[in-house]
Order: sequence, then C-alpha cells, then structure tokens
Amino acid sequence: MKVGIDKMHFASSHLYVDMTELARARGAEPDKYLIGIGQAQMAAIPPSQDIVTLAANAAYPMLTAEDIQAIDLLVVATESGIDNSKASAIYVAHLLGLNRRTRTIEMKEACYAGTAGVQLAQEHVRVHPDKKALVIGADIARYGLNTPGEPTQGGGAVAMLISADPQILALGTESTLLSEDVMDFWRPLYHTEALVDGKFSSNIYIDYFQDVFKGYLESTGTSASDLTALVFHLPYTKMGLKALRSALPLVSETQQESWVAHFECARKLNRYVGNLYTGSLYLSLLSQLLTDPKLEAGDRLGLFSYGSGAEGEFYTGVLQADYANGLDTGLPQCLARRQRVSVTEYEQLFKSQLAWKADDQELDYASDPHRFVLTGQHDEQRQYLDKWA
Ligand code: HMG
Repeated sequence: MKVGIDKMHFASSHLYVDMTELARARGAEPDKYLIGIGQAQMAAIPPSQDIVTLAANAAYPMLTAEDIQAIDLLVVATESGIDNSKASAIYVAHLLGLNRRTRTIEMKEACYAGTAGVQLAQEHVRVHPDKKALVIGADIARYGLNTPGEPTQGGGAVAMLISADPQILALGTESTLLSEDVMDFWRPLYHTEALVDGKFSSNIYIDYFQDVFKGYLESTGTSASDLTALVFHLPYTKMGLKALRSALPLVSETQQESWVAHFECARKLNRYVGNLYTGSLYLSLLSQLLTDPKLEAGDRLGLFSYGSGAEGEFYTGVLQADYANGLDTGLPQCLARRQRVSVTEYEQLFKSQLAWKADDQELDYASDPHRFVLTGQHDEQRQYLDKWA
C-alpha cells in the first residue's frame, strides 16, 4: 500500500523585508546576503500572526469536508511554542473545525520535528488506511536585530495531509537517523530569540547530512544515482547548496549538473521567505514541485531533515502521477503579492509581538489579510479570531 503526502499548502506573512535594504542598514555588502547566505527577501511576521494562526492559515485552504471527516491525527511541529502545557494543535484543531475524536499533539525537536510528525503520520495511516493525518510545521525564526543570524530569520507554516494512495509523494518506509546531544542552537525558556553557534551549527549540519545520507545508501542498497534530486532543510539557501556540493562526488558529471539544476528550483521559494524551522524542508519540497519543469512521475526524491540539538534523518519518496493536483499552485503569485516593509517598520514589528506577561493586551490586526488572526490576550488566554465566522 502506498502512503505519503497527499496535499501541501503554505502560509506566511503578507509582509517582507528586502535583503539588499537589510544588508545596507547593517553595513554589510548586499551580495553577502544575496549570494553568501542565499536569501533575497525575508518574511516579516506581524504581531497578529503566531504559530497557531500560521498553522491554521496554511491548512484550511486545502482541506475538503471529506478530509476533515477522515483526519484523526493532528501534529503541529514547532519550536516557537506559545504554552508550556497546552498543545498549539488544540487551538489549530478548533480553528479548523476538526473532529473531536482527533489525536491532537505538538512535537518538538528544533527544525527536525516536522519530519518526526510526517513519520508518525505515515505509520498511523499504514495501520488505519481509511484515516488521514494532518501534519503542520509552523515557526517564527528569531535571532535578534543586528545579529549574524538576522538575515536567516523568517517564518511561516507548511501543512501536509498524509493519506493512503497519496497524490504527491509515496514515502518509503526506510530511513536513516542520527541523534546526539550537540549545543549548536537552542532557546532556553526565558529567551524569545535563539542562541546559536552559527559556524559550528553549519558544520554539524554537513556532518549530519553526510552521515545519514551515506548510512541510507548503504543500509538500503540504494545508489546515489537512483535519486533524481536531493531536497534539504534550508535554514538559509546557501546551507543546502553546501550540503549538496558535499554529495556531488558520488555521481557522474552529468548527474551533478542535473542535481544542481534541480536544487536551484528547490531553493527558489525559500529565498523569498527565510527560515521557517520545522517547515523549511517542506517549503523547499513545495518549491521543487511547483517550479521544477524537469520532474516526472516515478522520480525518487531524497529528503534531508536537520534539527539542531541535534537530530538528522534521510528518507525518500516517489513522485506520483497527479502530484500537481495536491499542491498550493498559487504560492509563487502569493509571495509576489506581498507588501515590502522598510527596515525600520520590520524592526517595529519585531519588537511589538505579544509580550510574555500576564497583562491583558490588544493587537492591531486591521491590516492583516489572513483569515485567522491573533487579536491579543485576555485573562492570560490568547484570543484568536476567525474572520469568516
Ligand atoms: P556570518 O558570520 O555573518 O557570515 O554568519 P559569514 O561571514 O560566514 O558569511 C556568510 C557567507 O557569505 C560566507 O560564505 C562568505 O564567504 C559569504 P561561505 O564561506 O559560508 O560559503 N560572503 C559573501 N559572498 C558574496 N559576496 C560578498 C560576501 N561576503 C561574505 N560580498 C551564519 C553566517 C550562517 C553563521 C549566520 O547567519 C548564523 O548564525 N545563522 C543562524 C544559524 C544557522 O542558520 N545555521 C545553519 C545550520 S543549523 C540548522 O540548520 C538548524 C536551524 O534551522 C535551527 C533548528 O534546527 O531549529 C538553524
């Protein structure tokens, strides 16, 4: 039985910062951000969006009444949690009108947790093929103003429906994992921005990729040349390029050119959004599927998931004949329609997120065009609004 990704949809902010402007404001060469980091624009998340609204805004456009009836597992993967006890998935399930019999959980292991959710979901559907699982990776990447990590910020959510006989990608049951205690990136509970050893984290990422990629090829008897393209977690798009380059000696020159050309499609949309932690690998997969003219049904794609701390996994999926029907086809146009904000406006947005304090707070959501918005906090409870209700 085939099980895998049946539908995918993305949501982020309607606002972005231009990386050339940000570089100039930070006294950096624009090419450092555009080429050296590989980012052209960065999503600027307004206070009226948090992981709950991003997750719900990503999922609702792709769900039919029939899907909602069949979903009995919802996983929200995030490292931008809003509560130490209650799962963000509970709020998301409520906003989406999911069945009360749905198992509803939040998962955490840095950027890797989205993949943990996908694997849990595919195992669930293999046991219950008449059911569907919804997995959403939702995050807001924050390193702080004027820090080396700043040009690698971003945010958004990717929602994936996992089902039997999937339209997009039939997932393999084999994968290779690596998990060890590494202090490359972390965020203690009292911090709103991540702590990171940037260069170290980039080196660990490559080490993990090489370990799980080679481990997968050996343990499954797969040849690197069997893979049409490699899709990476993209904290910034140059990171994926570096990992890809480390694998090129394993294939012929012709295939090296083909892998690099496929990768340029896989990073296209991530260049305009930035890091969205748990969703980054899956935005790159969406980018690959939406913008790559050279893909064909039956192509086998390799996926590398990395989460600091650290955990890595390599697995593969086979592209299905109707894959285009399951995709968020309006995404490139949606990103192109976003509104540019100045560096000063972005800095104001950055500083005006809902404060981590008990007081009642009200947020200005009038200019936020999304269906689901965060309107503030009352009696220490976050207030969400469905504008369509
Ligand atoms: P930095 O020190 O400011 O940058 O921070 P740099 O000086 O290393 O320059 C970056 C690149 O730009 C270099 O290229 C320069 O040569 C190049 P590289 O050597 O890397 O190939 N450069 C130029 N290129 C063209 N024209 C120019 C020019 N000037 C310089 N004029 C760093 C960079 C990535 C370290 C920083 O942004 C950072 O700390 N980011 C956050 C950490 C991160 O993203 N780590 C990635 C791996 S860990 C991961 O993926 C997990 C994560 O997603 C979290 C999670 O799991 O939850 C982060």
